[in-house]
Amino acid sequence: MEAITGRQAKTAVVTGGARGIGRAIAERLLHDGCRVLIFDIDRHTGTRTASELDESGRAVFYHVDVGNEASVKAAFEDMRGNGHDPIDVVVNNAGIPQSFGDPIHRLDIARWNLYLAVNLTSVVLTARYAHALFREGRGVIVNIASTRFHQPDRNSFTHTASKGGMVSLTHSLAVGLGPNIRVNCVSPGWVSTRDDLPMLKDQPRHPAGREGRPEDIASLVSWLVSDQAGSVTGQNFIA
Ligand SMILES: NC(=O)c1ccc[n+]([C@@H]2O[C@H](COP(=O)([O-])OP(=O)(O)OC[C@H]3O[C@@H](n4cnc5c(N)ncnc54)[C@H](O)[C@@H]3O)[C@@H](O)[C@H]2O)c1
Repeated sequence: MEAITGRQAKTAVVTGGARGIGRAIAERLLHDGCRVLIFDIDRHTGTRTASELDESGRAVFYHVDVGNEASVKAAFEDMRGNGHDPIDVVVNNAGIPQSFGDPIHRLDIARWNLYLAVNLTSVVLTARYAHALFREGRGVIVNIASTRFHQPDRNSFTHTASKGGMVSLTHSLAVGLGPNIRVNCVSPGWVSTRDDLPMLKDQPRHPAGREGRPEDIASLVSWLVSDQAGSVTGQNFIA
């Protein structure tokens, strides 16, 4: 895809880029010609991923807890202070995996608050602190939600609420930040992030004949951040 190459190289922040879907997104955006800043709470894996993906330094790791305002603010301020290029793209991918929790009368409110902070408030925090750093005030935000936002499993209140909030917030941010900043959402269904765990028994349930792969999500993100999607904003794509 012509996506991002040509003209000036773009800079993309990918949260949760140390592994899984986020790593595939980081790899794809690097392939498209971007510099990629990986924001992740896992220092060990994040550092290794950045060096594995690009030894020439186009992939840079930042140790960030995206659910913590001070941590997000410090990362963006550090970028500014170090004279990094302006940013063009933010992909909000970091998330806590779905867990099957207690029934509502035993809901752990501390856990609820943690989920909302990492899966939802993080989207507000990155938008807030990236805002001043977008190149000439223009940019693209992509949020990675989940089909669980409208197809919940039993007792998965925290996950469903956080991902549903992310889809709604996508519309709200698109309206609030447009027209110069486009905001879209990708809601993956089942995505195998480990080659050694093929979900063979689930294959017939998928009309496409297989579950998703991280590269599928990365391709869609690549298109959404490209100029080819220049009129697309406020949308949620099931993948
Ligand atoms: N894999 C799936 O089937 C699937 C399906 C639907 C949606 N999703 C969503 O896609 C995204 C990525 O999923 P995945 O399967 O690759 O997950 P994963 O658990 O493999 O990776 C998540 C990454 O986010 C990072 N992270 C977690 N908390 C963080 C924090 N507070 N601050 C910074 N980084 C943090 C982790 O360290 C990790 O690198 C998630 O938001 C998930 O909800 C995944």
